[in-house]
Amino acid sequence: MDGSRSREIEVLLTEDRTFDPPQAFRAAAHVSDDTPYVEAGADREAFWAVQAEQLDWFRRWDNVLSWEPPFARWFEGGQLNVSHNCLDRHLDGPRADATALIWEGEPGDKRTYTYRELHREVCAFAAALKRLGVGRGDRVGIYLPMIPEAAIAMLACTRIGAPHSVVFGGFSAKSLRDRMIDAQARVLITADGGYRRGGIVPLKQTSDEAVDGLEFVDHVVVVRREEGGPPVDMRDGRDHWYHELVAEGDGACEPEAMEAEDILYILYTSGTTGKPKGIVHTTGGYLTQVVATTKWVFDVKHDDVYWCTADVGWVTGHSYIVYGPLALGATIVMYEGAPDYPDRGRFWKLVEDYGVTILYTAPTAIRAFMKWGDEWPARYDMSSLRLLGTVGEPINPEAWMWYQEHIGGDRCPIVDTWWQTETGGIMITPLPGAVSTKPGSATIPFPGVEATILDNDGQEADSGYLAITSPWPGMLRGIWGDEQRYRETYWSKWDGVYFPGDGARRDEDGYYWILGRVDDVLNVAGHRIGTMEVESALVDHPAVAEAAVVGRADELKGQAVAAFVSLVEGTESSSDLIQELRQHVGNEIGAIAKPADIVISAELPKTRSGKIMRRLLRDVAEGRALGDTTTLADPAVVEQLKAKYEGEA
Ligand code: WT7
Repeated sequence: MDGSRSREIEVLLTEDRTFDPPQAFRAAAHVSDDTPYVEAGADREAFWAVQAEQLDWFRRWDNVLSWEPPFARWFEGGQLNVSHNCLDRHLDGPRADATALIWEGEPGDKRTYTYRELHREVCAFAAALKRLGVGRGDRVGIYLPMIPEAAIAMLACTRIGAPHSVVFGGFSAKSLRDRMIDAQARVLITADGGYRRGGIVPLKQTSDEAVDGLEFVDHVVVVRREEGGPPVDMRDGRDHWYHELVAEGDGACEPEAMEAEDILYILYTSGTTGKPKGIVHTTGGYLTQVVATTKWVFDVKHDDVYWCTADVGWVTGHSYIVYGPLALGATIVMYEGAPDYPDRGRFWKLVEDYGVTILYTAPTAIRAFMKWGDEWPARYDMSSLRLLGTVGEPINPEAWMWYQEHIGGDRCPIVDTWWQTETGGIMITPLPGAVSTKPGSATIPFPGVEATILDNDGQEADSGYLAITSPWPGMLRGIWGDEQRYRETYWSKWDGVYFPGDGARRDEDGYYWILGRVDDVLNVAGHRIGTMEVESALVDHPAVAEAAVVGRADELKGQAVAAFVSLVEGTESSSDLIQELRQHVGNEIGAIAKPADIVISAELPKTRSGKIMRRLLRDVAEGRALGDTTTLADPAVVEQLKAKYEGEA
């Protein structure tokens, strides 16, 4: 908990500012008092049932919740379809011809879809997938840039009951391959390429490498990002162009009636071992929580223009770009590229051009904007904004204040939303018309969510581990193919209580201050990276004998990856080798996991029983005085490493 200790000191010593919901905001907000908290407190299951009634069900559920820890079943007996909820049900009313999706590519190309148009496109692609033989329960991999087809492909899968497994376009061929294998996905949907900082990311090429020799992959569907895009090899019988597939047939496709507990999707996330976990989400409870939170946390109304800047490859993109906002009939903005392309004003130009009213982004982005300077947002008219959100990692009060002043014009409430891939939806957050905020605090649990802070023994404490004490509708239903790991990772610390892996503190007003991960998971620029994954990538390189990876504080990214490596006998350390190792991690996992620092050392600090002491390596990486070294086999090793690190860093 070393990184989190410094955050605890920071927030405790410095933060006593409170901001009440602005009057003008509160007056028009969906929620402007504590009614939902009172109702959920009185009867939690009845509260969630009322939320579920906002959805369109083909068949009503028989039972709100059955809970046999750690297995929850929500809305059993109920039948619904997610794409029907996101599309079809808007077609009878005034939203049919309203804009569902505004998309802008990095080079500046634009596309918009009304709900009717989006429905047509989703049906046509769903029908095409069916013709390829994809049916209920078949897993489909999606590896796409941030283009409309990413949302369309997800919705098409939900329409036919095929669980999707979206893989972030920045992951390597090997990461994609591992996920395709684990999910046994029969189909992969990709694109010829996508734009990032002016360059083209060759996704089809990476996909070819990823699925090479995988017998169970029957089809690869390729979206053509634009005419005249990068050349691709199309393999006969396996590869199909998206635009050709959707042009065949009559484009009609009725939604499947899915059981509430049928799998909606699998999404992989890093854990404390080398192998990513396939987090399983189901249909009815997930959509219920996602819709309830989108409506109340973001106060979404039909005239809003809502922009969540995440990538659909992460859970934020699943819940708060695609499913929540579309189920509510909102207008969403999707942007393909980097925030600093062609210049550092790109986001603010998008806000001005489209009249964005709600903006949801990450602390790491906010810190980058701060560093780039106040003049960038100041050049644009951002008076359309009325609400700001943040997610992904603890936000430092300084960044929170800057966001409020320079982006929100001191007029917009900020919702700091704590949740995880596993929780499916937002768990701890202010409701912006009802809850006062404090810079750096995610405030209080959403109505119907029960949280507390526990110590190792399960005793309540002011400071310790965040804990979720009762099941919630959007919770993961398991880890794909690994029930044991599900039990051990989340449910073994305390009896029947969910352990999210975060440290937290609760203040005298009952507000939660999330302090960061307490396990071997790093949070680099809002992305979860398992230290073991990076270690296995490093030792996979022929020059590496041993590797130990830790996180160190980083001003922009929150945390950065620091790697300590010993080489096999006879290998010489060199700056070329360090570059090669960094690239190797990029090839194995993806660019987001590349170590910021790599220190090569003859030996790593170990206890007499041979265990690498990562605690001391964290001290080295963070430039602190070394903690207790008495259990080391050879204390000189870590002293030398410290001198070396300080010399190189
Ligand atoms: C981890 C989950 C949920 C979408 C994005 C990340 C950290 C997330 C906050 C926040 C402090 C946060 C936690 C959590 N985290 N939001 N508002 N304040 N920390 O999803 O990749 O599953 O990561 O992100 O450490 O456990 P994820």
